[in-house]
Amino acid sequence: MKKFIEVISKEVMKAFEKSGYDAELGRVSVSNRPDLCEYQCNGAMAGAKQYKKAPIMIANEVLANLKDSQAFSSVEAVMPGFLNLKIDEKFLLDFLNKMVTEDKFGVEMPEKKQTIIVDYGGPNVAKPLHVGHLRPAIIGESIKRIARYAGHQVIGDVHLGDWGMPMGQIITELRVRKPDLCYFDENYTGEYPKEPPFTISELEEIYPYASGKCKKEEEYKAKALEATAQLQNGRRGYRALWQHILNVSVSDLKKNYQKLNVEFDLWMGESDVDGIIPQMVERMKKEGLAYISDGALVVDVKEETDKKELPPCIILKSDGAANYETTDLATIVWREKEYSPNAIIYVVDKRQELHFEQVFRCARKTKLLREEADLQFIGFGTMNGADGKPFKTRDGGVLRLEYLLQQIANEMYDKIKENKELPEEEARNTANMIALAAVKYGDLSNQASKDYIFDTERFTSFEGDTGPYLLYTIVRIKSILHKFEENGGSLENLTCIAPTTAAEKDLMKDLVGFNAMVEDAFTERAPHKVCAYIYRLANEFNSFYHATKILSQEDAVKKNGYLALLQNTLCILETCIELLGFYAPERM
Ligand code: ARG
Repeated sequence: MKKFIEVISKEVMKAFEKSGYDAELGRVSVSNRPDLCEYQCNGAMAGAKQYKKAPIMIANEVLANLKDSQAFSSVEAVMPGFLNLKIDEKFLLDFLNKMVTEDKFGVEMPEKKQTIIVDYGGPNVAKPLHVGHLRPAIIGESIKRIARYAGHQVIGDVHLGDWGMPMGQIITELRVRKPDLCYFDENYTGEYPKEPPFTISELEEIYPYASGKCKKEEEYKAKALEATAQLQNGRRGYRALWQHILNVSVSDLKKNYQKLNVEFDLWMGESDVDGIIPQMVERMKKEGLAYISDGALVVDVKEETDKKELPPCIILKSDGAANYETTDLATIVWREKEYSPNAIIYVVDKRQELHFEQVFRCARKTKLLREEADLQFIGFGTMNGADGKPFKTRDGGVLRLEYLLQQIANEMYDKIKENKELPEEEARNTANMIALAAVKYGDLSNQASKDYIFDTERFTSFEGDTGPYLLYTIVRIKSILHKFEENGGSLENLTCIAPTTAAEKDLMKDLVGFNAMVEDAFTERAPHKVCAYIYRLANEFNSFYHATKILSQEDAVKKNGYLALLQNTLCILETCIELLGFYAPERM
């Protein structure tokens, strides 16, 4: 379905054309003076020079040709040449009524579906998820959902960090602690046990311990490097041990991502592309693009137009080992082969921008994927604490994600228990939902590239631009609809009526902007646009609610019309929060 703003632009464009002017001048935008009009067109000013005419004269001519348009209830030409427009109520109603019968409320499906891979999450195995993992998970999940809703084939890949030095460090430390395990016995030829020789908590303690020790003891570090190399070269016992590390970690990660309502289609890791690295490297060498520099194998990626120096992309380190660039490049090869994607979107900390610039350029230069395929880096900013520094616990440590969520859920629980007698289980579930909305909305309502302050107090408030406020609005609508049904009303086959009050009309004008908003959020990869939209919508709804007798309305036609408007508003709000990755309770 066409976008509302386009439909009304069309009307004005026709009038420009009819008056002998370029139709393009007739584009309409939302008014920046809502006290004067709802939409405006500034085309007369833009055309004045070209047509050597005073803007107000052009505007008046166009105005005359707009008289018959069904779209506007009022059109005015005002100095110096603005066209001030008000939408016809019936026209608005017809558009809304059509939109709500359309699939996805009129979001037009693409002529050609794109295949899009979203690379997000990026956790490293054997390390618990901490607050630093919030942003890639939350933003990536939403970008994935928006792209999917816009009609594309979208694959979310967690891209686990599971192949580097940390693995060697863990193996080394395990060997110190449990030297008798069969995994270390080189003469062992039997099957390895199915049960892992450690728990997730042990693993999470071993890793930082081993990594700390590597920084202090050269000999220990050498052992860890050796173990990493042996693992990557396929030593049987180490591979089996590594598989245990992976399994234990991944099931813990899955549990935690589930709490965040984040779901990946692929659980691929750096290790999965290890096997295709040699081939890739051979090709780069053969084509003369990779050469040895200071012992390492590199590809130059600098370009003449560069303002700053871009170092070469290191393909193999001087000891022949693969690094972070290598696995990302090989992953591109794998993705190209499996999916031939139209785009790969990387949702990663913006401090990794240089890495991705090198990887993208290298991938282009060595033609790892089709030229038309898009590689896109969506770098997000840092989540800071109230002091403006990266978010830490009170004692300065990194906060585990689980604890953070739990802490906020507990606060929410106390809040909702204060004023309502909800059954225990429902109260807990509801508290979890509100906490998730608070955290996700608090993040997503900011433009991703910006740093932001994680302000628990503000995020959990039931008022203002927050997740809980949105849920509260949704629950308010649900409860009105429930009450209506409880009193014997039926919600079947209700239709909206033409708005008679400003509050009603404002709400409708927001609703009809849905498909344009989705398209914009998709092309811009911008969940914050969904947030801005629903915050406005929620505000408009609440103004309408306060200004209108709904359930006590005597006029049955009006009452049904209002209830239909509530149903539509509810559907749109719930669709939007689904795009953001959270959901609403029945009551709170
Ligand atoms: N594991 C990486 C890290 O902790 C993030 C991975 C991001 N994705 C990628 N394709 N490199 O920094």
